[in-house]
Amino acid sequence: MRAMSEPAQPTWGGRFREPPAERMQRFGESVSFDAVLAPYDIRASRAHVRMLRRCGWIPAEEAEAIDAGLEAILAEIEAGRFVWDPALEDVHMNLEHALSRRVEAGARLQTARSRNDQVATCMRLYLRDACEEVAATLAECLEALHALAAANRGVLLPAYTHLQRGQPVSAAHHLLAYGEMLARDLGRFRGLRASVNVCPLGSGALAGTTLPIDREGVARELGFVDEAGEPRLTQNSLDAVSDRDSFHEFASAAALAGLHLSRIAEDFILWSTREFGFLHLPEGYTTGSSLMPQKRNPDALELIRGKAARLQGNLQTLQALVKNLPLTYNRDLQEDKPPLFDSHRVLVDCLRVLADLLPGVRFREGACRAAVADPLLLATDLADHLVRAGVPFRQAHHEVGALVAAAEEEDCPLPELSTARARQAAPSLPGDWREVFDLERALAARGEIGMPGPGPVDRALATARARWGLAGETAGGREGV
Ligand code: ARG
Repeated sequence: MRAMSEPAQPTWGGRFREPPAERMQRFGESVSFDAVLAPYDIRASRAHVRMLRRCGWIPAEEAEAIDAGLEAILAEIEAGRFVWDPALEDVHMNLEHALSRRVEAGARLQTARSRNDQVATCMRLYLRDACEEVAATLAECLEALHALAAANRGVLLPAYTHLQRGQPVSAAHHLLAYGEMLARDLGRFRGLRASVNVCPLGSGALAGTTLPIDREGVARELGFVDEAGEPRLTQNSLDAVSDRDSFHEFASAAALAGLHLSRIAEDFILWSTREFGFLHLPEGYTTGSSLMPQKRNPDALELIRGKAARLQGNLQTLQALVKNLPLTYNRDLQEDKPPLFDSHRVLVDCLRVLADLLPGVRFREGACRAAVADPLLLATDLADHLVRAGVPFRQAHHEVGALVAAAEEEDCPLPELSTARARQAAPSLPGDWREVFDLERALAARGEIGMPGPGPVDRALATARARWGLAGETAGGREGV
């Protein structure tokens, strides 16, 4: 190799006379947060080098030396012995520099590659794993929700609109509603796992490379293949290095999942209050007060509610970051990683906490029974009863409304109104109207698919795991993906 004078910066210093200002180095470094990409970068580099060797750009012995060097560096990183240098900006330049210090041939590593297609590749590999991890933790939550629902299919409680008592449902039906939400999230992350799986390597800085390379081979080796095993390649080099859609999609799916979690958390927080008293939260996920000895606060759920805000903020940051950016790469894009990594970690943490907390939740059946005994929860059933007797629904609604007002006036439970007073308020009332106030009958009448009757709820419980796509889901990701 031709001898070179020491450049002002190891990677790109050739055309510079001065090194970067120290403040610039501190300002511009990303290795403090992108070092998590190291295993992906090394994996991609090893595939790239094998390709360069096949295409004749690196002699076999040198390619082997590079490969061994990269493997050794990975082992050092995993053992926590690798020293990251912020002066080398990012994870990619740290690794290239470390390799070149060990292996002379390291200077060939960046043949036909730029940090731009390299970053894009690493992030797609990262996102694939992140989607699998989120999917696996979502599956754990769904299993826990399903088990809690199955264990509480006999518990009835009021369901609310406007936070006012509406109609009776079973706890199982309520919990399965959360299941539907999280199952949609699971579908979103699985879909994203498939759509990010496209290989940008070969796009170079922005216009590919003049050196003949084998994009398909690298893509195959890195698992960027479709269901038939065919390589999937990005189709435009300018787009490939500046596209951040998958970041937005991930952050958006995470924000939406967070929003779902916040609603579950909020219901449980309300239900655990003395005012509702519907459930008991496991002690391990609640905290006490430093002053008030009686307190047991639902901090874990409040934090889930709070962290959902962070997930929304991260999405907002990413959207603002890319808006109006000229093609192609701009350094602004380095700021894409902290919000994305944060959304991934925060979402997985929230899901793990919820999956852990759910098995410890106990419904307080007495309180639920007392609340659901409120006869006004069956006012709609009474209107339906009038409809069965031939009364148009709008008229039935008015008459039952007048009946409710009469009970309020008399200050007595609705079914205890005298027949005369009831008839006065609701002239169409059939003689057997009091029979409506039978919870079991009311629930049993709701027998169609998707309704809270015991029949459909049992069927929903029986089919949920398959419908939610849980079969074959394991902690390490979905089988066969
Ligand atoms: N660490 C940087 C990032 O993630 C790499 C940028 C490389 N490209 C460049 N043209 N400076 O954005």
